[in-house]
Amino acid sequence: MSKQWMAAVSILLVTASSALAQEVKVGIILPYTGVGAENGQQMDRGMEQYLKLNADQIKPYTITLIKRDSKVPNGAESKIAAQELFTQDKVDVLAGWVYSPDAIASASVVSAAKKLAVIMNAGTSFITNLSPYFVRVSFTLWHSSYAMGEAAAKTLHAKTAVVAYSDYPPGKDSLDAFKYAFEHNGGKVLDAIPAGGPTAVPDFTPFFQRAKDEHPDVLFVFVPAGDFAVAVVKTYTALGMKDAGIKLIGPGDIVQDNKLQGMGDAAIGLITMHHYNADLDNPENKRFVAAWKQAYGPDSTPDFTSVGAYDGLAAIVHAVQATKGKMDDGDAAVKSLLGWKFDSPRGPIMIDPETRDIVMNEYLDEVVKGADGKLHEKVLETIPNVKDECKALAIGPCAPK
Ligand code: PHB
Repeated sequence: MSKQWMAAVSILLVTASSALAQEVKVGIILPYTGVGAENGQQMDRGMEQYLKLNADQIKPYTITLIKRDSKVPNGAESKIAAQELFTQDKVDVLAGWVYSPDAIASASVVSAAKKLAVIMNAGTSFITNLSPYFVRVSFTLWHSSYAMGEAAAKTLHAKTAVVAYSDYPPGKDSLDAFKYAFEHNGGKVLDAIPAGGPTAVPDFTPFFQRAKDEHPDVLFVFVPAGDFAVAVVKTYTALGMKDAGIKLIGPGDIVQDNKLQGMGDAAIGLITMHHYNADLDNPENKRFVAAWKQAYGPDSTPDFTSVGAYDGLAAIVHAVQATKGKMDDGDAAVKSLLGWKFDSPRGPIMIDPETRDIVMNEYLDEVVKGADGKLHEKVLETIPNVKDECKALAIGPCAPK
């Protein structure tokens, strides 16, 4: 081949590869059927809104989402999906995971692929320790439940609590975090009641009756949002626990925004701790909620799962820009996100460079009825820049081995 030909061929190759580098393939693993399907839809819409509202940030790249259904939250489908997305679809980055068992089961696949993997929901603290390629933009139950334990003792002046929790990793975290903070601030957890798992909504009556008989000041509940949350409020009301003087509290998972209106007036007075509610008064959230209602109808609303997905794409787009589209270098992609800051609809967020977990505000919220006759979340207190306390304190499953 002549020198001129060789030069022409190499120019063609460079042009072709930079054209290919413009498309970033993102594998998405979410529940699109079964118990978590509504969360899957809420998160799809969160991603859709990110792409729409931030088109300028993405240029000159294009983001292609390749979606897989994680189905039952037991890890099996999610692991297969992760393998197929990497080996067959050749994705540059993986994201999603509503349920902790799905993220936990996918960790070894992520490590083997050496590509960035962004956790958009799953909230068990230790998950990010399972692979150096995990970065979490959602939350851990230690963020919310530790802060709620402190607030229950200091702000609500509760002396005694009973904890009921979905019996799987994030539920155990929620119990440990609440108990640690509540008891370090003078409270006493009288009982901890495992209340079913994440695969089906149980009848909470026997668990809550046991709690009622123990007469605590507060009943602290963790369930994985969705229809679980609606059943919690229904059972609490049906058993007359409010009238018996027992306050229902928990992480914000028990008042997911898209389920709030369906809970009815029984939800008024509920106190929760979380990093997001759709009523948050900041410019990013106003823009996000307005675009959402325009796209999906005035009665629809984003919730914390939607914001996790929105912020997850923001993180991925940051990594794409920072690495100039070279997402095949997973180490560089992860590195670009250490210390990354973003103005999210939930308020300012940052990725902790040491833990790859999120740092964000927690809000102590009360459910109130607005002048429009609808239920809203009123922020009682803001706790700024909260870290995952399990890792910050190096306790429980986060203690050095
Ligand atoms: C989880 O499985 O980690 C999980 C799912 C739903 C939630 C919170 C945590 O609302």
